[in-house]
Amino acid sequence: MSNIQDKVVIITGASSGIGEATAKELASKGAKVVLAARREDRLKKVQEEIQKNGGQAIYKVTDVTSYEQMEELAEYALKEFGKIDVMINNAGLMPLSPLYQKKINEWDTMIDVNIKGVLYGIAAVLPSMRERKSGHIINVSSVAGHLIGPAGSVYSATKFAVRAITEGLRKEECVNNIRTTIISPGAVTSELPETISDPELKSAIDEFYKVAIDADSIARAIAFAIEQPSDVAINEMIIRPTVQEL
Ligand SMILES: NC(=O)c1ccc[n+]([C@@H]2O[C@H](COP(=O)([O-])OP(=O)(O)OC[C@H]3O[C@@H](n4cnc5c(N)ncnc54)[C@H](OP(=O)(O)O)[C@@H]3O)[C@@H](O)[C@H]2O)c1
Repeated sequence: MSNIQDKVVIITGASSGIGEATAKELASKGAKVVLAARREDRLKKVQEEIQKNGGQAIYKVTDVTSYEQMEELAEYALKEFGKIDVMINNAGLMPLSPLYQKKINEWDTMIDVNIKGVLYGIAAVLPSMRERKSGHIINVSSVAGHLIGPAGSVYSATKFAVRAITEGLRKEECVNNIRTTIISPGAVTSELPETISDPELKSAIDEFYKVAIDADSIARAIAFAIEQPSDVAINEMIIRPTVQEL
């Protein structure tokens, strides 16, 4: 039996891209997935597709920037499925811009979603994982969590933060048998570049993304981390298109 079978997995940002692909991959391997994001129509579509293929999925409309909603999400998973084995903090956005443009609202949103959303996700599931002395928290960072480019200061700052938080979490919770994994994708086909408001920068990124790999590639890496025996933690993975130099 696969080590993913019957695991209860919460996935934020499950309405598109990497989150959607991961939900489908894990459900196909027998996980009970709990889909979270803001767009209900998209969550419903992902749920229906999973169910049509014989998988188990429920969803809850959730904004990761609300701690209250994240707690309700964890409570919903516990009520419906009785436990939380894996939390995947994947929701994120990437409105790149140079600092001089002072896109303060975009900085605030990135900090709220990419950093606070991850912290709230951890906070919502830790109590039940600590109680069971079992669990796995997977946080999605980026190659931009290792490297900084022009127009990427704030995005990179949030993704460096995800890595710092996840490593701190590992140090605190390894004694409680809680695994942590940092996933750092390179260019992956998704809706992420749509969050760039500057048209020139958007076309430069579209050009860069011509080498992008499918979101399934990241879903398979996440499945690999989950399916290891419980005494093995895959703490960090970088997954790039082979031809991506950056
Ligand atoms: N694609 C890449 O090349 C790449 C590379 C490195 C890292 N990443 C990271 O991968 C993660 C997933 O991104 P993606 O590429 O799959 O992009 P995507 O297709 O745009 O997906 C982003 C997801 O985040 C959700 N989201 C955004 N704000 C939210 C909020 N406030 N509350 C709840 N959910 C929210 C969106 O759902 P709703 O709009 O329905 O809420 C959507 O499901 C992000 O953390 C991103 O930084 C992506």
